[in-house]
Amino acid sequence: MAQIKNIGVFTSGGDAPGMNAAIRAVVRTALYYDLQVTGIRRGYEGMINGEMIPMDRKSVGNIIQRGGTILKTARSDAFKTPEGRKKAYDHLVEHKIDALIAIGGDGTFTGAKVFGKEYDIPMVGLPCTIDNDLQGTDFTIGYDTAINTVIDAVDKIRDTAESHDRLFIVEVMGRDSGLIALRTGIAAGAEAIIIPETKTDIMALFDRLDRGRKDKSSKIVMVAEAEEAGGAFEIGRQVKEKYPNYDTRISILGHIQRGGRPSCMDRVLASRVGVAAVEALLAGHRNEMVGVVHNEISYTPFESAIKHHVDINPNFLKIVEILSL
Ligand code: F6P
Repeated sequence: MAQIKNIGVFTSGGDAPGMNAAIRAVVRTALYYDLQVTGIRRGYEGMINGEMIPMDRKSVGNIIQRGGTILKTARSDAFKTPEGRKKAYDHLVEHKIDALIAIGGDGTFTGAKVFGKEYDIPMVGLPCTIDNDLQGTDFTIGYDTAINTVIDAVDKIRDTAESHDRLFIVEVMGRDSGLIALRTGIAAGAEAIIIPETKTDIMALFDRLDRGRKDKSSKIVMVAEAEEAGGAFEIGRQVKEKYPNYDTRISILGHIQRGGRPSCMDRVLASRVGVAAVEALLAGHRNEMVGVVHNEISYTPFESAIKHHVDINPNFLKIVEILSL
């Protein structure tokens, strides 16, 4: 195995709070082990276009607390083509990059899996997405901050819901997953949580709303964007039809969930897996995501990490049912 001298690091897909902390950890760990580090801007798109910048200690100073990503990020259609990947590889060779660390989520590791089969370059990944939908890590970088942003927003919505005696249908992110809705629904005291992992049963929602105390002045229903029955607007439409006397409002939280200062948990997770990723490359790991399972570093092949069936804990839904009385 050729000795690694220059690690390329990039962020890809949707940004997530903690990406900068992860970049910092990778850069400083690589320097600690006397390696060079090259930042690749805009993910795979920048790899294809040759957007490479040398990184030093200072280039990652004062970023651990910042949301977004200093390397910028993108979703690349060109990288889905063999021609795009060939261009990307040629730029890596040109810049003498002999190993890669990818920071991202599902789409990032899907690309990494294909690239790793076509080209002989050691590559590991750091799980970084607000969706928390990767196998092989208990939590992804960004999830903790995002769920705290959600409950902060829903607490505020609760104030106005309470003042006006309103029912709010709140839609949160999660491209294919209800993990944001599930936890935040519990934490925000929702009446019900509607997620894609369970079949949406509008009658069950009506039962839940009927069962609740009649004198409750505010109600929150948390809906994951990936929910299959049409999302918050469609559910809101049906609720309004069934309960014309409820003052119902719909609130889509949107991209505020992706921004902001990373929480302590996300900074620590990013730092841990960032250090472990560089060490993993040096120890010969490749085509694996470096995560944390039961508080220990774990390594999961890209193709297993992106399998789309992160199980939800059914007890969580039961908790909502019990506590929404
Ligand atoms: O994967 C992160 C995520 O924020 C999803 O929750 C959401 O579905 C998607 O990205 C939105 O992507 P974009 O910002 O490209 O619209």
